[in-house]
Amino acid sequence: MDIELNLKEERETIPNLDKLPFGRVFTSHMFLMNYSEDKGWHSPRIVPFSKIELHPAAIVLHYSQTIFEGLKAYYGTDGKIRLFRPWDNVARLNTSAERLCIPPVDPDLALKAIKTLVWVDREWIPRKRGSSLYIRPFIFGTEGALGVKPSSEYLFVIILCPVSAYYDEGFDPIRIYVTDTYVRAFPGGTGDVKAGGNYAASLKAQEEAKKLGYTQILWLDGIERKYVEEVGTMNIFFYFEGELATPELTGTILPGITRDSVIKLARHLGIPTVERRISIEEVLEGARTGRLKECFGTGTAAVISPVGRIYYKGVEYIINEEKTGPLARRLFDYLTGLQYGEIEDPFGWTITLEAPF
Ligand code: COI
Repeated sequence: MDIELNLKEERETIPNLDKLPFGRVFTSHMFLMNYSEDKGWHSPRIVPFSKIELHPAAIVLHYSQTIFEGLKAYYGTDGKIRLFRPWDNVARLNTSAERLCIPPVDPDLALKAIKTLVWVDREWIPRKRGSSLYIRPFIFGTEGALGVKPSSEYLFVIILCPVSAYYDEGFDPIRIYVTDTYVRAFPGGTGDVKAGGNYAASLKAQEEAKKLGYTQILWLDGIERKYVEEVGTMNIFFYFEGELATPELTGTILPGITRDSVIKLARHLGIPTVERRISIEEVLEGARTGRLKECFGTGTAAVISPVGRIYYKGVEYIINEEKTGPLARRLFDYLTGLQYGEIEDPFGWTITLEAPF
């Protein structure tokens, strides 16, 4: 299927992209594609960025039938534009679609849509090292119907935001709050897919943590409230003496692409790395005794984000004197080195963008 281009007649003046609040500045164009039962996915097009008209009874507004992805385009030190494992985001989009009864999209078309849109708005990719163009594909049910059922109509949208660091802390350690009041996911739920509703359900805990001065929530498992699962917008890693560990994917944790990349990078660097169950007690004991050397989160938006302080049941635990540790720094440098094309990519994770597709 060809993507129709209906571009702005005049080039927009691009604002200063030096200091960007996450997700507030949008580029000139967006991608749209509709689904209906009779036509399937149809009319893929790139159009000027604008608001979207919705039926007040659109299923997404009432029953949250919506999924999304997050990936980035990087302006390399060599002047080339790169995408990082975009096919994995497309595959995960379809896994999320399946879980929420959304018809799958053709992966080749979705990838072509991402590439074409980034190419059309390539002038918006920040040139500064550490900044990038955040790509947000999402699909939602648009049918106007109040009965609880899968929508018969959908809209697939891709929008782009030039971004710098996700957290105000930048690469300085953040503080996380372990909640034993709320849970994010439970077996059989939607914790392992990128459903919008997962994030809506996390807001209250996140707000409470923020009021107390913490950047993010650390979620425990929904059954025993004993095992560490993930942080608000990131997966989580612990560097115990000689072993890098991250919670194994038990069906309630998002299979992060940055998580997977960090596991593979760490092993490539010779660091023993395991996926296993990690109890909050093990983490706190590690912080108390010094066995826990470092802790950091991983995510597309957050990249690699060190954690310096953990709150649990009225006590604060400090990790690595609240400093960014050498392992987090090493992995961050390697990962971003690949993404900005400064290090040769032995994994085949990056593609450079050159029209036509
Ligand atoms: C991402 O890292 O791309 C995410 O999806 C996190 C987001 C909720 C900001």
